[in-house]
Amino acid sequence: MTNNGSAYYRPEPTYFAELTQVGRGTPMGELLRRYWHPIGLAADATATPRTVRVLNEDLILFRDGKGRPGLVHPRCAHRGASLYYGRVEEAGIRCCYHGWLFDTEGNCLEQPCEPDMGAQTRGHVRQPHYPLEERYGLIFAYMGPPERKPVLPRYEVLENLAEGEFLETDDSSIGSGGPVIVDCNWLQHYENVLDPFHVPILHGSFSGDQFNAKMSLMPRVTFHYTPRGVSSLQLRDLEAGEHQRITEAVVPTIRAVASPVATVDGPCSLLGWVLPIDDTSFRIYSVGRVSEAGTLAKIRSKYAGKYWHELTEAEHQKLPGDYEAQVGQGAITYHSEENLTSTDQGIGMLRRILRRQVDAVASGNDPMGVAFDAEAALVRLDAGSRVVPKEA
Ligand code: FES
Ligand SMILES: [Fe+2]
Repeated sequence: MTNNGSAYYRPEPTYFAELTQVGRGTPMGELLRRYWHPIGLAADATATPRTVRVLNEDLILFRDGKGRPGLVHPRCAHRGASLYYGRVEEAGIRCCYHGWLFDTEGNCLEQPCEPDMGAQTRGHVRQPHYPLEERYGLIFAYMGPPERKPVLPRYEVLENLAEGEFLETDDSSIGSGGPVIVDCNWLQHYENVLDPFHVPILHGSFSGDQFNAKMSLMPRVTFHYTPRGVSSLQLRDLEAGEHQRITEAVVPTIRAVASPVATVDGPCSLLGWVLPIDDTSFRIYSVGRVSEAGTLAKIRSKYAGKYWHELTEAEHQKLPGDYEAQVGQGAITYHSEENLTSTDQGIGMLRRILRRQVDAVASGNDPMGVAFDAEAALVRLDAGSRVVPKEA
């Protein structure tokens, strides 16, 4: 280097658009559109139309009088009035302007200004919509080509509940370290799932000691490709034996992170879906298998005893957490300015596996992890933690 490190010579920065941008027609946007994504809690679909923004698209979520959730494009197929102002009825949503009525699949059922309710014309009209399915207390949408629609997966860890167990669902972005909607690119957060080395530094020191004591030890880590994505195995030597913790990123957006505050070890019982809202914001939906109400809320990060939203600006600076670290990288981090090292191996592997899926879709194939046979849709994970006792 001859520039002496002067910022004056800093080249124009760039980012990997093909991995970060989520709009229709972009490489990653098309990959993400081959999977189901949670777009709300079951309770979010009601008789009052609600705006949701997902993968750079603004949509309207509602639930008709028959209990069916619907997700439609906001601009009415007639002349574009927003269905946000529509009225939800037994059979669907009715536009406020001229009263066209659409069902949850976009079929036009009535055109009240036309002769005979539009019997001759309404069959030619379809309101753009996306299919929905409800599971685990969430509403999942499939926003890709209909002919490539996979089965909505089931996750073993959320199935076959024992007596006294139930699923708790959360839409407040637990795991983000901060507010519900995080104002940076989703990949910055998703890569963090495979960054175990930040735990003892950021969480064990800067944020105040956030997790339990064992997490403050620097782990020995190996990264692995799995049939689902990438995992990290973290080993820590404890008094009682070797603590083994597996964290998984399940392509394209699922995080299976064993609770860092849990004092009990076992299979990871919490899944989080990172939902890209657009290129520069995301949120997280979580489902946990619990036996006590309020378990998920307890996982929410605290900083020296306070919640993120209770901190002053000075405290945010003094006690930064995941939110500050990731949003601090910028709206979309500049990959051209990174200097990846050996401990960033998991990040490299995640990018590689995502690129492979982007390429698969671009060349007309299906990406990993999609199943078209309901029988094949049960997903088993390795994520979790355990202590292997020392040999006597
Ligand atoms: S614009 Fe919706 S019915 Fe006319
Ligand atoms: Fe973190």
